[in-house]
Amino acid sequence: MEFDLEQTDALLSTTRAVRRRLDLEREVPDDVLRRCIELAEQTPSGGNITSRRWLIIRDPEVKARLAELYRAAGGDGIIERAEQLRGTGSSEERVAVSAAHLAANLERVPVLVLVTMWGVHDGSGRPGLFDSVIQASWSFSLALRARGLGSAWTTMHLGRAREVAELLGIPDGVTQVVLLPVGWTIGTDFKPAARRSPSTITWFDHWGYTEEHPDRGGSLLASEPGVTVEVDISISPERVWELVSDINIPSRFSNEFLGAEWVDADGPCVGASFIGRNQRENRPWETTSFIVECDAPAAFAWNVSDPERPSAQWRFELESIGEGTRLRQHVTIGPGVSGTSKAMEEHPDQAQQILARRREQLRLNMELTVQGIKDLAESGI
Ligand SMILES: Cc1cc2nc3c(=O)[nH]c(=O)nc-3n(C[C@H](O)[C@H](O)[C@H](O)COP(=O)(O)O)c2cc1C
Repeated sequence: MEFDLEQTDALLSTTRAVRRRLDLEREVPDDVLRRCIELAEQTPSGGNITSRRWLIIRDPEVKARLAELYRAAGGDGIIERAEQLRGTGSSEERVAVSAAHLAANLERVPVLVLVTMWGVHDGSGRPGLFDSVIQASWSFSLALRARGLGSAWTTMHLGRAREVAELLGIPDGVTQVVLLPVGWTIGTDFKPAARRSPSTITWFDHWGYTEEHPDRGGSLLASEPGVTVEVDISISPERVWELVSDINIPSRFSNEFLGAEWVDADGPCVGASFIGRNQRENRPWETTSFIVECDAPAAFAWNVSDPERPSAQWRFELESIGEGTRLRQHVTIGPGVSGTSKAMEEHPDQAQQILARRREQLRLNMELTVQGIKDLAESGI
C-alpha cells in the first residue's frame, strides 16, 4: 500500500490549534467521534494495556460548569492578557486572542472531549501511565482534521482537576490529560506553522552535534558539521544580548578564545570585523571575523576568515522563554579551509577522530562560555 504523501504530509503539518474557526452551531455526530476514537486507540500503550478512557461532554449544564472551571483555572487571565495585547500585532497577541476566544466560548463548542487514563503518574519512569494517552489524543486530533473537524490541545482545566473530577464523576486513580473542544472547522484550509528547521535541533550520535547539510554526503566536512550548546538563563534577552554581543565577554570563560578587538568599528553591526586572539594546545593564533548577523536581542553571528567561505560560522541565538532567555551558541565547521580541514586532509585515515576531537574541544569551550554568560547575567553584575 502506498500513501499519498502530499495528503498525509498536509494532514501532519496543518493540524493546528483551532479555536476561532470552530463552528459553534453545527452538530457533531457520535459516530464520527467513535470512529476517531477507534483510530486513536491504534496508538501504542505501555504494556499493551488499554487504559485510556474518553469522556464526550455535550450536556449544556455540564459544559457551562466545565467552562467556568476552565476560566477560573487560568482562562480569565488569558482573556485579560489578550485585552492588554490587543492591537500590538505581536505573535503573542495572535495566540492570546485566539486562546481568549476559546476560554470565553468554551461552553458553546458542540462537544468537549476529555481524554483520561487509568493510572497516576508516580515519577517511577514506568511506561503505561499517562505517557500512553498523549499519542492517542493527537491521533484523535489528526483523525478529526481529516474529516473536516478541528480541536485545540488544552490543559488549562488541570488547575482545577479535582473539581473537574467531581463534576464528571471521575474516580480516584484516573489522570486527566487533555481537554479537546471539538467542532466542524469553518473552512478547511490551514497553513503549516513556522517551526525550527530540523538541522538546528537534530543531533547526530552525540548531544549537540549537528550536520548543517546532512544531504550533501561526500566528505566528512561537506555536510558542515557543527556543535550546539544551550542554556536557560533567568534574565531577559535584552540583558543577555549585552553580554553576548560584547566580543570580549566569551573570552573570559573559554580556554581557547583569549580576547578580541574591533578592526574598523566600535561595536557590533553587520559588516564590522574583529580580530580574535586564540590558543589551542599552547599554540596562539589570530583570526579575522566578520559580523554577518546582528539582530538585537535575538541573533548575533560571525564568519571566520572569509565572510563568503568561512573556516567556521559562529552564532548566538537568544530565545525569549517566559521572563528569561534560552541561549544557544552554535558553530559550524567550514565550509572553507580550517585547521581542522587541513589536519583531516593530511591524515585521511584519522579524519573521523580529528573531527570528533575538534568537536569535543569546541563543545567543552562553548559549554564553559554559555555557563559563564549565564552566571554573569544571573549574578546581576
Ligand atoms: C501541553 C499543551 C498545553 C496547551 N494548553 C492550552 C490551553 O490550555 N488552552 C489553549 O487555548 N491552548 C493550549 N495549547 C495550545 C497551544 O497554545 C498551541 O499549540 C499553540 O498556540 C500553537 O498553535 P498551533 O498548534 O496551531 O501551532 C496547549 C498546547 C500544548 C502542547
